[in-house]
Amino acid sequence: MEKDPYILVIGGTNMDIGARPFGPLLPHDSLPGTVRRTPGGVGRNIAVTLAQLGHKVKMLTAVGNDAEGRELLSLGRELGIDLSHAMCLDGIPTSSYIFVEDNKGDIQWAVCDASASDQIDKEYISLNEDVIRGASAVLLDTNPPADAIACAAKIASDAGVPLFVDPISAAKAAKVSAILPYTTVLKPNKQEAETLCGRPILTMANAEDAVISLLGLGVKEVYLTLGKKGVVAGAAGQDLIRLPGFALHPVNTSGCGDAFVSAVLHAFLQGDSLRDKARAGVAAASISMETKSAVNPILTADALQERIKLVD
Ligand SMILES: Nc1ncnc2c1ncn2[C@@H]1O[C@H](COP(=O)(O)OP(=O)(O)OP(=O)(O)O)[C@@H](O)[C@H]1O
Ligand SMILES: [Mg+2]
Repeated sequence: MEKDPYILVIGGTNMDIGARPFGPLLPHDSLPGTVRRTPGGVGRNIAVTLAQLGHKVKMLTAVGNDAEGRELLSLGRELGIDLSHAMCLDGIPTSSYIFVEDNKGDIQWAVCDASASDQIDKEYISLNEDVIRGASAVLLDTNPPADAIACAAKIASDAGVPLFVDPISAAKAAKVSAILPYTTVLKPNKQEAETLCGRPILTMANAEDAVISLLGLGVKEVYLTLGKKGVVAGAAGQDLIRLPGFALHPVNTSGCGDAFVSAVLHAFLQGDSLRDKARAGVAAASISMETKSAVNPILTADALQERIKLVD
């Protein structure tokens, strides 16, 4: 173990490009509007948030050796993330998520090119085994291929390193099924939990059953987030915790889940109770909601501590 503890995030780094016309969205025409480029990727959002919360963070990720990729690496370094093990790949484009909104801000079309994340493969994970083994905790998103995820989870588990998993989307959540027994903390949203449990979650009772099922599959702690309905959290041998969502000045809920799991990890390393970890998640999500960008730059450890006081 290194003297200076660090959290390792394994996952995607994207450039998100969003377009919104001033007027109605019409096909077959060039529409006046705005185009915004913002760094994204669940892994990257979480790495940035953990760095803001005061942690030393390393990241295993991949970008293309293009303008976006070099910009994302340099921005990440400026934010204090150790990207010395990240790949900058020739001949592969940086992963990008391109979406077109209507003039009310609802996404109508989206295309994701994740070829760079596909390169976070088993071989790269194995080469970085020591970085995984030396971490205080590992956080995995499901952008890498399934066999790379399984390899990382096994290394962390064998080394006794707590493993946090964000399934990131219903489509990618199935990659997590094989690593549930190695998972210390799982943070699915409703759709991801439906994929993992194989049944719909229509009521709070369904959500509680889903948490219990996931614990039965070997996960040590589950935080099932339900948008504004909040969270159901569970751990083996403990009563379930239910907390409602909490918003003070909501602007945009995208990235709430990333803030949530980052704060749970922060609270976990402090040795907090299940209830206090869930409170930290809800508090961080409420701060995340107050900005348009995926990560709110004011989400620091002090700001989180203040906001937690407002969560029952
Ligand atoms: N509309 C809302 N009002 C209040 N709280 C909300 C709202 N939406 C989200 N939250 C808070 O954010 C947490 C995570 O939200 P959600 O379940 O949508 O995660 P997610 O789908 O993983 O989000 P992300 O878009 O970051 O992936 C919720 O548990 C809740 O605390
Ligand atoms: Mg999410």
